[in-house]
Amino acid sequence: MTQDEITLIQRSFSRIFAQKARFGALFYERFFALNPEARAMFQTSITRQSEMLIEALALVVRGMRTDGALPPKALQMAARHGRYGVTPDHYAQMGEALMDTLAEVLGDAFDTETREAWQRAYGRLSEIMIAAAAEPAPDAMAANRNTS
Ligand code: HEM
Repeated sequence: MTQDEITLIQRSFSRIFAQKARFGALFYERFFALNPEARAMFQTSITRQSEMLIEALALVVRGMRTDGALPPKALQMAARHGRYGVTPDHYAQMGEALMDTLAEVLGDAFDTETREAWQRAYGRLSEIMIAAAAEPAPDAMAANRNTS
């Protein structure tokens, strides 16, 4: 990511953060419209879930670097998603829901440059999350050692 892309994302995210409850509700509504079956994967209330999502996005967005590295906390969160049964298709659907919700909440501020920057950043984040989920969990590694 370039520094300009990072600046566009951080600026637009601060507008989102200022209306995070609305953003979260719209986002999950869109995501579950794309994949109604995914609703059953969440035990947490959607209000609480959307707060956690926004906090996690804030961590990622505020810590964005031009080399694309994620903060360690975000990597741990990514690895947990493998255990939640999240698939690459889910990330694609979530990306679609994210882009549509950004467009709705940001309105005219979601211009072409901002959209492209978000698309690249989400693409990169989801690649990292998918890769982190594919790594064996520490307990799975222990199990391998015991049986080999
Ligand atoms: C941008 C990508 C995503 C971010 C930032 C994110 C963030 C979070 C956070 C912060 C949590 C709280 C628990 C934890 O930290 O482990 C969580 C839980 C969870 N996420 Fe995600 N998530 C993302 C993508 C997805 C996708 C694509 C799915 C697909 C269905 C998903 C499904 C879940 C589920 C099932 C839980 C556990 C809910 C529960 O126990 O009730 N997440 N997510």
